[in-house]
Amino acid sequence: MAGFKSCKCIEHEVVLDFMNVVRHCSNHNLEFGGRPVIYDYFDGKNFTKEEFFNKKRVHRQMFREGKCPSTCQNCFHLREMEWDDDDYIDFLLLTPWAECNSKCIYCPVCTDEYVKQNTKKYDVYSAVKYMMENDFFIPETVFDFAGGEPTLYEKFDDILELIFEKGYKNVVIHTNGINYSDTVAKLIKNGQCKVLISVDSANRELYKKIKRVDKFDDVRETMRRYSAAQTAIRPNAMKSKYILVPGINDTEEFILEWLDMCQELGIISVILNLDFNWIVKNTDLAYKQKDMPRSPENTTRHLYDLIDFTKTEAEKRGIITSLYGEIFTIKTLVEGEVTENIIDP
Ligand SMILES: C[S@@+](CC[C@H](N)C(=O)[O-])C[C@H]1O[C@@H](n2cnc3c(N)ncnc32)[C@H](O)[C@@H]1O
Ligand code: SF4
Ligand code: SF4
Repeated sequence: MAGFKSCKCIEHEVVLDFMNVVRHCSNHNLEFGGRPVIYDYFDGKNFTKEEFFNKKRVHRQMFREGKCPSTCQNCFHLREMEWDDDDYIDFLLLTPWAECNSKCIYCPVCTDEYVKQNTKKYDVYSAVKYMMENDFFIPETVFDFAGGEPTLYEKFDDILELIFEKGYKNVVIHTNGINYSDTVAKLIKNGQCKVLISVDSANRELYKKIKRVDKFDDVRETMRRYSAAQTAIRPNAMKSKYILVPGINDTEEFILEWLDMCQELGIISVILNLDFNWIVKNTDLAYKQKDMPRSPENTTRHLYDLIDFTKTEAEKRGIITSLYGEIFTIKTLVEGEVTENIIDP
């Protein structure tokens, strides 16, 4: 097929989203759009492979005809290339549950009552099982669990067991780590998954300030057990994440405490991110501050310096730091052009 403009989400991604919606993507990068819809109400029952991919093809076909749906206008994910014409999903984001047992100060999910009330429970397990049995996926498909808190879904382990049996190797689990799962540990041992836990601290008091629940000890124990489950197949499967929340946990002392904890737990891969609410509220300020001298008030420069500090200190402990989300934006902003961004897979 000749080249045309489309994006990898439109072609082969699927998001089981909040409020029973199924989307092509979860990108919020467009002011008035993004996240085009495949099903506006999905109950996980009575769908067929033909129906599913026909619905996915509605937008795919528009791009084949040189048209762009209003949701995708000017999206920087669009690429002109020779896209294949096959029906399969290479990335499934599972985020159809909004409940959580944490109350992180930065998280929009935990405060959005409208989303919670309008997300009706359905049998996600049976829907995914049907998809697996009917060849929706390819061996390389990424299964990415988010939410809400995925471990609260009563059939979370059952979905993972399906994945285990079929031998899929690219599972990503975003969890707060309050609940430990033997099935997650089994997948880690088998090199089939990576687990990302945003702990954002390394002591009980700071944890409570950010997470607004008193569960630091449980999370530390979960990280220890997942880390102990790592094998040579994937020695970096357990990833500890630190979301910098300016004014709360963005000090060198707190970062050192966190890195020491990671080292003690045998974690060799960490992720640094920034609360995206800070950049949303302070975009203009960040642009101004990037060219201003370092000072305690210059949060942009301070965050930028913390990136280097974290990477250097992590390296001393045999730990690789990946930069995610808006902390990467800070790096790009200050440097003008970014030379490298290691993402530890
Ligand atoms: C909404 S959570 C759901 C999964 C799970 N409950 C967890 O906390 O990992 C998905 C991811 O978004 C991240 N996240 C939530 N709010 C954020 C924010 N304001 N800035 C950056 N990342 C955020 C979380 O750390 C998590 O990795
Ligand atoms: S073009 Fe952009 S908004 Fe549209 S599906 Fe792709 S990533 Fe999402
Ligand atoms: S644990 Fe995850 S879903 Fe729950 S409030 Fe925190 S970031 Fe949000």
